[in-house]
Amino acid sequence: MGSRIRQSLVIVLIHFWPAIAQNDDFVYLRAMKDSWENTPLNWDNVDGSDPCGGWEGITCTDDRITAITLASMGLTGPLISDIGRLTELQILDLSYNKGLAGSLTTAIGNLKKLTNLILVDCGFSGTLPDTLGNLENLVYLSLNSNGFSGLIPPSIGNIKKLYWLDLADNNLTGRIPVSNGRTTSGLDMLINAKHFHFGRNRLTGVIPARLFSANMTLIHLLFESNQLTGTIPTTVGLVKSLQTVRLDRNLLTGNVPLNINNLTDVVEMFMSHNQLTGPLPNLTGMNALNYLDLSNNTFDQSEVPSWFSTLQSLTTLKMFSTNLVGELPAALFSIPQLQQVDLSYNRVNGTLDLGSNHSNKLQSVNLQNNQISDFLQRRQYSIRLTLDDNPICSDSGVEDGFCSPLPPTNTYYVTPSNNCVPTTCTSGLVSTPNCGCAYPYTGDLIFRAPSFPDAGNSTFYESLHDSLITYFQMSKLQVDSVSLMNPTRNLEDYLVINLQVFPSGEERFNRSGIIGLGFSFSNQTFKPPREYGTYFFIGEPYDFLLVGPSGTRTKSSKIGVIVGSAVGGCVFVVLLVLAGMYAFCQKERETQESSPFALWDATSGSVGVPQPKGVKPFSFEELSKYTNNFSETNNIGTGGYGMVYRGSLPNGQLIAIKRATQGSTQGRLEFKTEIELLSRVHHKNLVSLVGFCFDQGEQMLVYEYIVNGTVKDSLSGRSGIRLDWMRRLGIALGAAKGLQYLHDLADPPIIHRDVKTNNILLDEELVAKVADFGISKSLGDANRTHVTTQVKGTMGYMDPEYYMTEQLTQKSDVFSFGVVLLELITARNPIEKGKYIVKEVKQILNKSKDLYDLREVLDPTIGLISELKGFERFVDVALRCVEETGSQRPTMSDVVKEIEYIMELAGLNHDDELASNSTGKGYEHPYSTNDSLCAYNADHFPSNLG
Ligand SMILES: *[C@@H]1O[C@H](CO)[C@@H](O)[C@H](O)[C@H]1NC(C)=O
Ligand SMILES: *[C@@H]1O[C@H](CO)[C@@H](O)[C@H](O)[C@H]1NC(C)=O
Ligand SMILES: *[C@@H]1O[C@H](CO)[C@@H](O)[C@H](O)[C@H]1NC(C)=O
Ligand SMILES: *[C@@H]1O[C@H](CO)[C@@H](O)[C@H](O)[C@H]1NC(C)=O
Ligand SMILES: *[C@@H]1O[C@H](CO)[C@@H](O)[C@H](O)[C@H]1NC(C)=O
Repeated sequence: MGSRIRQSLVIVLIHFWPAIAQNDDFVYLRAMKDSWENTPLNWDNVDGSDPCGGWEGITCTDDRITAITLASMGLTGPLISDIGRLTELQILDLSYNKGLAGSLTTAIGNLKKLTNLILVDCGFSGTLPDTLGNLENLVYLSLNSNGFSGLIPPSIGNIKKLYWLDLADNNLTGRIPVSNGRTTSGLDMLINAKHFHFGRNRLTGVIPARLFSANMTLIHLLFESNQLTGTIPTTVGLVKSLQTVRLDRNLLTGNVPLNINNLTDVVEMFMSHNQLTGPLPNLTGMNALNYLDLSNNTFDQSEVPSWFSTLQSLTTLKMFSTNLVGELPAALFSIPQLQQVDLSYNRVNGTLDLGSNHSNKLQSVNLQNNQISDFLQRRQYSIRLTLDDNPICSDSGVEDGFCSPLPPTNTYYVTPSNNCVPTTCTSGLVSTPNCGCAYPYTGDLIFRAPSFPDAGNSTFYESLHDSLITYFQMSKLQVDSVSLMNPTRNLEDYLVINLQVFPSGEERFNRSGIIGLGFSFSNQTFKPPREYGTYFFIGEPYDFLLVGPSGTRTKSSKIGVIVGSAVGGCVFVVLLVLAGMYAFCQKERETQESSPFALWDATSGSVGVPQPKGVKPFSFEELSKYTNNFSETNNIGTGGYGMVYRGSLPNGQLIAIKRATQGSTQGRLEFKTEIELLSRVHHKNLVSLVGFCFDQGEQMLVYEYIVNGTVKDSLSGRSGIRLDWMRRLGIALGAAKGLQYLHDLADPPIIHRDVKTNNILLDEELVAKVADFGISKSLGDANRTHVTTQVKGTMGYMDPEYYMTEQLTQKSDVFSFGVVLLELITARNPIEKGKYIVKEVKQILNKSKDLYDLREVLDPTIGLISELKGFERFVDVALRCVEETGSQRPTMSDVVKEIEYIMELAGLNHDDELASNSTGKGYEHPYSTNDSLCAYNADHFPSNLG
């Protein structure tokens, strides 16, 4: 080692004296390099020895090292104290290097600029240094899956900006530290934190009441699999933001706090495998609950509670061994999303009745070891049901299938090949879903609290698969395909899925590719669909990096290496920039948004529902009359949200009624948002809300009826309306003006968040109207530029910057609008057969050719090529809208001006469009009284992802 250092210093002194004069970063990094094995080969090769001159995994700004990201490199060795001298460092990610061992150096505390400290699944051990508390800019602290022991340092409470605290899966002991008000710090001070992940440690003592307060904004509280004792503090009921609560597999005793049902946003709650006593908690009102596990506690004997059938969002009810008695209500089984019920080892008695209409999602009902004496079998059931060890099964002669114990669930799954015949690959290479052969990057995605039970159904994995593909499309990592396989539930009920990621173009990833992939998961840049909940990733080392030309350490290979790493590096710099922005922007986290509906408790009936101006509340009877009792013939569509009906008001006006499926809490929120926003926007290019109905448990929105359906319908040929170039320009302009109004004229400004061709409707004159404000966000204040919010929207249209940073801006709509523009010229779905329209167009585009050489992807029905005047300019606008970062994209008002100009070029006489709106008026209320009977398609009100 010593001689290597000397040797490199000599080289440095001879060739790079000026660099040393500027800063010492590279001296310290070299020392770190010398303490590690398996550093990237190009660290030796680039004979400059200047880390800022292209070292893989190193990012610099102004010659200072700002990021070190070396996930899954197979590094071994310690993390020496020289790290503390890299004082400009913002991101340190050494995840998935099992060979990194020893303790976490106290010098880490010198890195005052650090925002992301990510050491997931390494071999570190020893106690966590107190100096962590000095990292005042830290936002992400992920130390999970190491061997850290000892206490959680109370000083972590000083990290005011901390958003993500993951200490799970270590060997930490002692109490959870809280402040005492003055002298000592504690985790109760982390009021900006959203994530406490402390599961799978050996924490002891009571959960301190002081830990929780109404000031907290936690969404995930994960304390599972520790040795926590005492009662659950009632203060937890103050943290209204909570969505996932795992307190299971501890030694908790006493009563569950009465106010637990104040946590009405909780989706997953686990309190199983403790020694909880007292009455069964009353969960009435926890209407967002999907997954509930209270199993294996020592509650007082309790009658089957009434909330069983009121929690309409439940997918999973696990309450085995909870001392339940009495008869099960048949209504329990008709909860629409219900998939799994486990009430075994109780004393449920009487007659089992699954009702005449049980949930069609129901997969298994386990009632083993109860007192059930009869079963009202209304028909053959195709669910897995057991009544083993009940009186009904002890009668000799019972032959029915429901008397044997449930066999284990078969959850076998492998991502199928993509319409091709799998190749037999030579040794080491793996067949990809696209039937090529490559060396995949592999690891386990581990979901700590999915909202669904054992997924026997492949659609669960498909949604995860699609979200991964879309993520890789947006991230520009060179990924060809992704395979998911072998889902299992482990001891903690985590869902573990093996992941293989295959490279695109080559048979193996290069080092930058691996670093980028590792960081995507270690930094949680990839976000799975909501139902998967929080996850962590355990990556395997990638043993297939080329040791070819770049490993030969000759001068001639140098350029190739630099070029290679520069190209790979670019991809990664984008990720880093985004991560950095994310960290930076945490400063301006979203506070509680004020809404006129905030006090409207949707369970309290229609009393007190505010009546927004100009929007009429309808009773259920009225709407029933206008739609002929919601008759089949008036049903014009079905979406994720519910049904859409056509109707007519007594004055003859045609209306479209969006009727929410009962029990959809997601819908309830969208319902409020949409009424609130639509009641204060009025513009020719926005769909108008006529009224709403919140009556008899129903949620309905009443809109003006737009006769010609969606732009999507017309582009796909479904509506029979041919859209020539001029019409397309008109539609683009109209939709752009609608969005411009939302961004610039609505007060406060509104971000639509789900701009897509399915949400742009066409009236009888083919005037475009933007619809569906279900997930729109108000900026709250005209001076704000963004809101930080959970990622929602539709894949394919979604702004990658928003996706990665959770910072929603008006430029996110601009991005989606750019995709709409591309769709208007190609008539292709944004993601079709695994191809992303944005990438496709950019790849084919050749600006030196006529029509930019895009004929190949052009929609043939667009009209004669010779008549596409202004086409190139149109493509230019579209591509500017889909630029990587928001700051490079135009505003909607720029877009409007540009499209107006293109229309002039195209010679369109568009008096109507140009005159009525560009002058700033255009507020006339556009109720249409058209009674044409064109088909109104289901896709008008599609469900939203997320
Ligand atoms: C945790 O600590 C115990 C006792 O100190 C030790 O036996 C065990 O190996 C440690 N586990 C890990 C994962 O380091
Ligand atoms: C909560 O916030 C209020 C006002 O912002 C403050 O006075 C109070 O001390 C805070 N409480 C805690 C426990 O931090
Ligand atoms: C539950 O929430 C309501 C409304 O926010 C509040 O008035 C009440 O005090 C809370 N109850 C408890 C026990 O925290
Ligand atoms: C019930 O919980 C205890 C710990 O409280 C655990 O030891 C036991 O294995 C659990 N029983 C079942 C059936 O899971
Ligand atoms: C549970 O709480 C609800 C509402 O808070 C109340 O109406 C109901 O009576 C309670 N049930 C029991 C069994 O205490």
